[in-house]
Amino acid sequence: MNHFELRGGELWCEDVRLGDIAGQVGTPVYVYSTATLERHYTVLRDARAAAGLGAPLIASAVKANSNVSVLATLARLGCGADTVSEGEIRRALAAGVPPERIVFSGVGKTRAELAFAITTGVAEINVESEPELNLLIEVAAELGARPAIAIRVNPDVAAGGHAKISTGKAENKFGVSFAEAARLYAQASNNAHVRPVAVACHIGSQITDLAPFEAAFTKMRGLVEQLRAEGLSVERLDLGGGLGAPYFDAPEPPAPAEFARMAARVMAGLDIEFAFEPGRMIAANAGVLVARVLHIHERPEGRRFLVLDAGMNDLIRPAMYESYHDIRPVRPRKGAALAYDVVGPICETGDTFTRERPLPPFEPGDLLAFMTAGAYGAVMSSEYNSRPLVPEVLVKGREFAVVRRRPSYEEMLANEATAPWLG
Ligand code: LLP
Repeated sequence: MNHFELRGGELWCEDVRLGDIAGQVGTPVYVYSTATLERHYTVLRDARAAAGLGAPLIASAVKANSNVSVLATLARLGCGADTVSEGEIRRALAAGVPPERIVFSGVGKTRAELAFAITTGVAEINVESEPELNLLIEVAAELGARPAIAIRVNPDVAAGGHAKISTGKAENKFGVSFAEAARLYAQASNNAHVRPVAVACHIGSQITDLAPFEAAFTKMRGLVEQLRAEGLSVERLDLGGGLGAPYFDAPEPPAPAEFARMAARVMAGLDIEFAFEPGRMIAANAGVLVARVLHIHERPEGRRFLVLDAGMNDLIRPAMYESYHDIRPVRPRKGAALAYDVVGPICETGDTFTRERPLPPFEPGDLLAFMTAGAYGAVMSSEYNSRPLVPEVLVKGREFAVVRRRPSYEEMLANEATAPWLG
């Protein structure tokens, strides 16, 4: 459930008209709903508790939505942060996430990033390979620290709607095999500079079936039992993210309660703390991208292009993953649906959000909203074609605030310097 609703035919976010935000902030603009973010987090948390998973560390995947106000909204409810760069750790800290709720994942952490995570005192550094473990040991020794680490396992299960977002197959770059994980965990347990506390996995994104999760979780339980049988201590099991968001044309994903019951069943009797890293589930349906129709360009061959002021630089998911986003008019539009190719202003054919989508008849100047855009939307935006980065607005009840403003053209040029030989 989300708080983007039609009232009198107009699309609102909580108690604010999207049209009013577009009027004041301009378009394109991302709009997030506080009530929806809060609801998604509490539903997840309560489902875990009801299923008997205790009070797990729920660390929202910052990569899905890294806006500091969004992170702070979640942090106030006790939500942690799953991060993959120093930048994301800094964002989480700026949002008030305590270090003991920050997880640091990622296959390519640099020496400087590892040092930053160690001195910050994050809950767990998820090690993804043997060379990374060796580097981490070196950095920790230099700092005279003993950080808590997890070994990330690649459980070799196929999951996720699109090849580009599947992470848990052996051919993907993430994590190590079970055999290697057991070896590295034992090795790290005997090292004075790291303290292994957890094993972790994450198998993919927008997963709409419980079976791959269950397969991976069963294998993870086996690993914990094996390590403990060897006399090693495993305090936490990090089960990653990946549960799909209800996504209009896609199969309906399992409800958080069903997911939690499955996890609890697989883990029954295993005395351990759990961690989860949900991204999309929390943020996707809590955000929309509002754009304006610039032109309607009809071709004699019959194609009808709806040219928007938002492009693939603002929302890249359709171009990159062929992903579907529901498109809704912001103000009522009457009349029989017409088939539109919805495109942006970028000079690339890939800048096409959808083709031949039946939509209500639009006119130039109309506003529309791309739904389910709160996750992997603004975070993946760019200045391609030298377009200013898309701003973000957070709504709470009747109030709204610009939580990242649109940069000026002067700001866009500010970091560039003319090479000295160009005078
Ligand atoms: N934990 C780790 C280690 C991850 O790599 C990811 C996502 C998550 C958690 C969060 O997964 P979620 O719950 O959001 O599915 N840009 C793509 C999605 C890439 C996901 C990458 N990893 C998209 O727009 O669909």
